Amino acid sequence: MRFGGSLTRLQFRVACADDAAAVAALHADSWRRHYRGAYSDAFLDGDVESDRLAVWTTRLGVADPFRHTVVVHDDGTLVGFVHVMLDDDPCWGSLIDNLHVSHSLRRRGLGTRLMKLAAAEVADKAPGGGMYLWVLEQNTDAQAFYRALGGVEVESALVGAPGGVPARLAGVPAKLRMAWPAPVRLRA
Ligand SMILES: CC(C)(COP(=O)(O)OP(=O)(O)OC[C@H]1O[C@@H](n2cnc3c(N)ncnc32)[C@H](O)[C@@H]1OP(=O)(O)O)[C@@H](O)C(=O)NCCC(=O)NCCS
Repeated sequence: MRFGGSLTRLQFRVACADDAAAVAALHADSWRRHYRGAYSDAFLDGDVESDRLAVWTTRLGVADPFRHTVVVHDDGTLVGFVHVMLDDDPCWGSLIDNLHVSHSLRRRGLGTRLMKLAAAEVADKAPGGGMYLWVLEQNTDAQAFYRALGGVEVESALVGAPGGVPARLAGVPAKLRMAWPAPVRLRA
């Protein structure tokens, strides 16, 4: 299935501090569309954008050799991003902490290209370890995407509240750990 929208001039690059507001806006929009039912309506309809802006302003404001964010713009508009935390876990390796693509540009290969750039960074900077991420149990579309790239579901756990604020959760949502062993190779 293909979604609408055209891709005219794609540019992938490492994120900088000036990207924080656009990344936060895309992140908040994606959470509102895909995390409802796991995160509370009050949070998604209220604080989510300011919460994401605070997180991304901090993340992108300070250079950290163990963190890597790639953004992709289409004709100057941010349309996706991925954030990697290198060597995050002694067992599972580097963590893909966030991967989001503009709603209107899903199934155009952008997610795959961002994941490949993340895997290349892991292979380059943390070659001894694997790669993993957490995906909401309810997010079966993203699970299908990760499986298509060779990710394997290895365990489940309860979702932590964003920013450590319990009221931001809806009920007791669960998440799945998807993993790629070292050396990380994504299925093409
Ligand atoms: C999940 C996400 C990052 C995938 O990125 P994408 O650019 O849409 O995915 P791609 O076009 O690279 O998909 C590659 C392959 O993955 C599989 N896939 C992707 N989305 C799928 C879906 N919704 N259902 C089933 N398979 C899917 C397909 O095999 C697809 O190949 P095809 O389109 O030729 O059939 C994107 O849809 C997104 O941002 N979703 C909302 C946010 C989100 O859930 N992020 C993940 C948080 S853990």
